[in-house]
Amino acid sequence: MGIMNLGYVILEMKEPSKWSKFAQDVLGFGEAESYGENGTKYLRMDNAPFRYMIRKGTEDRFLAGGYEISSKNDFEKQIELFKRSCIDVYLGSKAEADFRAVEAFASVKDPSGNTVEIFYGRASGKSFLPGHGISKFVTGLMGLGHMVLPAPETEKTISFYEDIMGFGVSDDLTLPAFAPEMPEQRIYFMHSDNPRHHTLGLYNFPNPTGVIHLMAEMTSMDEVGHCLDRVKAAGLHIFASLGRHANDEMVSFYFFAPGGIGFEVGYDGKQIDNWDSYEPTKSVIGDIWGHEYDFPVVG
Ligand SMILES: [Fe+2]
Repeated sequence: MGIMNLGYVILEMKEPSKWSKFAQDVLGFGEAESYGENGTKYLRMDNAPFRYMIRKGTEDRFLAGGYEISSKNDFEKQIELFKRSCIDVYLGSKAEADFRAVEAFASVKDPSGNTVEIFYGRASGKSFLPGHGISKFVTGLMGLGHMVLPAPETEKTISFYEDIMGFGVSDDLTLPAFAPEMPEQRIYFMHSDNPRHHTLGLYNFPNPTGVIHLMAEMTSMDEVGHCLDRVKAAGLHIFASLGRHANDEMVSFYFFAPGGIGFEVGYDGKQIDNWDSYEPTKSVIGDIWGHEYDFPVVG
């Protein structure tokens, strides 16, 4: 499998400095040095040069996830695969690659319209310790965490990630519809070439921010609890109380970060040592306990 992990995320914010302040004050991320893009804030979680790139723009939204590929050879093979599947590939310029602190990157759209970047040759960063006494985030070769993206074109999007990008299925979750007249909810969880139970989830509904949620993982319940206190103190809306997921067994809570970006903070996520002997699951229950949802009523 060519895709190693989710290496970076790009957001667009009207006020990147506000998102950076939130990430430092609430999550314990750090601000990185600039890699040259005007107005962009770069945020760190670990020794990688950065994990979040917050661009200045006219909207608050998710722009792209960047997947790490181990070598130039595999990177070129992945581009070939896109081209053979008649997918338009944008090859990043040298300057754009420098902005991402990588050797090279390319971007495509998945069938639901999400922007997907692939890259190789990431520069090494200085050592980094998170704020608020957090020992470390669960990152490294497992990437920055996971994300769930809107995928209204569900079947085509699943096929794109499985057949063209080489993701493997971890769990196919079906949940009851929000209302009787609506279709069931489905979240299709996939892994890349690392032990994290899922690096990507696809949800069968659209979302105006371009992302359902992003997840950062800590190494203790206390660190998650302290973060929950900071989220409350910051007055951010918690849309799922503390709970444990059934599929990856993660204990977590969810809230809206600035710009309305769904964010999950958790710990104890399941890791699979050998994907070859893993049997993908089909679930109808999202949680073992907790995760009581509280979505603000719109309109
Ligand atoms: Fe999640």
